[in-house]
Amino acid sequence: MDKFVITGGAPLNGEIATSGSKNSALPALAAALLTEETVVLHRIPRVRDIRTMERLLVDIGTEMSVDEETVTMQTARIVSPEAPYELVKTMRASSLVLGPLVARAGRARVSMPGGCAIGARPIDFHLSGLRHLGAEIFQEHGYIEAVAPNGLKGTEIVFDRITVTGTEDILMAAVLAQGETVIINAAREPEVVDLAALLTKMGAEIQGAGTSVIRVKGVAKLGGATHEIIADRIEAGTFVVAGAITGGDLRITGCVAEHLGALVAKMQSAGVKVTTPDATTVEVQSGGALHPADMMTEEYPGFATDLQAQYMALMTQADGISIIEETIFENRFMHAQELMRMGANIRLDGRKAIVAGRSQLTGAGVIASDLRASASLVLAALVARGETVIDRVYHIDRGYENIEAKLSGAGATIQRVE
Ligand code: EPZ
Repeated sequence: MDKFVITGGAPLNGEIATSGSKNSALPALAAALLTEETVVLHRIPRVRDIRTMERLLVDIGTEMSVDEETVTMQTARIVSPEAPYELVKTMRASSLVLGPLVARAGRARVSMPGGCAIGARPIDFHLSGLRHLGAEIFQEHGYIEAVAPNGLKGTEIVFDRITVTGTEDILMAAVLAQGETVIINAAREPEVVDLAALLTKMGAEIQGAGTSVIRVKGVAKLGGATHEIIADRIEAGTFVVAGAITGGDLRITGCVAEHLGALVAKMQSAGVKVTTPDATTVEVQSGGALHPADMMTEEYPGFATDLQAQYMALMTQADGISIIEETIFENRFMHAQELMRMGANIRLDGRKAIVAGRSQLTGAGVIASDLRASASLVLAALVARGETVIDRVYHIDRGYENIEAKLSGAGATIQRVE
């Protein structure tokens, strides 16, 4: 198992380029199941979750070729409409094939996701959405089976709470349903908008993506398309925090600055000199005094839960007390214990973390527990005195492309060891 060895203390300077969005690429890959024609996707990040999704699609029947960050796919026939436990247990987003498979093949068999490091994370909203569209759902032997032999029928679907992959799954089912589907309380995340853009290129009729009401007029067939995935706002945000926590002068390029609005505003209120000189660049400048600023995670356009752990690492370096509230997942504070091992002063109270700074962090042996928790440990290590060894970095490899190369290019001392 790989580890990162990081020696802290150096400010990050220069430029880091953003990769394509993992959470946009995952549903886009699954969308290729909706047509027998060729779908070409550019800017697919080469991270482990993407390789898992590619393996899953090949098992289902997709012919695929990968050339650097371009993936070309054709699914002439669905050979096996199934997502097995072996893959779902390593990546919950495998459930994104449910909607496309029922829509295209009338049948899907997907392993139920089990527990998860960040909370219960059920997929009941995906299932009730499919039921409303006319699918019958059975659960047996740890698998969910959805069947719609006569196709799906458009209807009104109201999500009890906002779900990102739930919205994407139901959107992919609705595009081939008969008649109109209205999705109410839909997720407004940029990844949903990107998926709708791809589906529209494939011939789908979708209105309202990016708002909380999405209307879909079902079509009989979808065709091929070529599409470039949007920039990864969470990766970019992680680097913005890296610049701020190390007190460097760092430009993050190739991102969508607008997608980072909540992070940039919060960091400005914490005293960080952060600007967006143009639509695709965010710049952090040294010299700001870091103050505590309370933060609450919210659905987009609020502060992303996927940046909460990184923000907590930053707040350990602010002078004073900040309160961080996690409203999306019930157990997403695993990084707090590890940050405390590095000298942070954090008290957990249910869904709130009370961070008292500024702490001089010191290098220690720590364990990465999930993707974004690992990112926060890397950030803490960059500012800690001495050497930090982060174990189980396979978590970070799920969603960050070449993070050690990107960080060392900006002056970090980070090494991957086996
Ligand atoms: C997506 O997960 C992202 N994953 C997550 O990214 C992200 O943290 C999350 O959205 C929130 O922004 C992908 O896009 C692949 P949800 P998703 O359904 O869709 C509850 C990362 O680090 N819920 O929006 O699974 C759920 O438990 C990750 O890249 C139900 O109760 O999240 C949670 O409390 C991890 N029933 C809330 O809703 C359901 O059927 C929001 O979850 C679905 C969700």
